[in-house]
Amino acid sequence: MRPTILLRGAAMLVLSCMIFYIASKFMTYEENLNQKKYSQAFADSKPQVLNCKMETSCPEGHFPFKITSGAANVIGPTICFNDQVLMSAIKNNVGKGLNIALVNATTGKLLETSFFDMWTGKIESLLTFLKSINSGTILLLASFDDPATKMTDEARGLFTELGSSLIFSVNFRDNWIFLGAKPIKEKSPFEQILKNDKKKNKYENWPEAVEMEGCVPRRI
Ligand SMILES: *[C@@H]1O[C@H](CO)[C@@H](O)[C@H](O)[C@H]1NC(C)=O
Repeated sequence: MRPTILLRGAAMLVLSCMIFYIASKFMTYEENLNQKKYSQAFADSKPQVLNCKMETSCPEGHFPFKITSGAANVIGPTICFNDQVLMSAIKNNVGKGLNIALVNATTGKLLETSFFDMWTGKIESLLTFLKSINSGTILLLASFDDPATKMTDEARGLFTELGSSLIFSVNFRDNWIFLGAKPIKEKSPFEQILKNDKKKNKYENWPEAVEMEGCVPRRI
């Protein structure tokens, strides 16, 4: 009698292990499917920038650039300059808040990239960064998620000095892209903002991504 009971017990154990294994496989499969569906919704609406191919070509003595803001709090921004991706999610050097790349305005060489959390970060680090920009620099900026919660008038003033004319209307979850320079005589023509407006937003709590490309003159 005993061996039969043991055998039955063993069979039950094997069976429950198999059921558990199959169930867990199926669950991860379901999770993957849901995740794919979510990112697919964004991928369909705005293709992620994988290279810096531009529609326009630039005249002699100009650097081509292309800036794309983040999309909602899901897809990171991309900053391209002189046919090179300087910042992107794929390069793993972007973050929520303000993403900034500095390049030498004469050579076009990348000097530095950085991002500043404007939701929970400290404004001092952004102030220090902006104040330390040397003359002869081009600044490229793309927002991701929220660009403004920690913004101060002092920081807005520093962006104004770099050629921004829209910074004083950049608010919670607006999308903002900007190319500025130090020094700059007039306002930069390269700036866009898309306001966060629940009635018009593409992604409920966030506006659609904004993108701009152009040619910025090389500094001689
Ligand atoms: C840009 O590069 C030139 C040439 O190498 C150099 O003289 C200049 O100091 C650089 N400027 C900045 C802001 O890096």
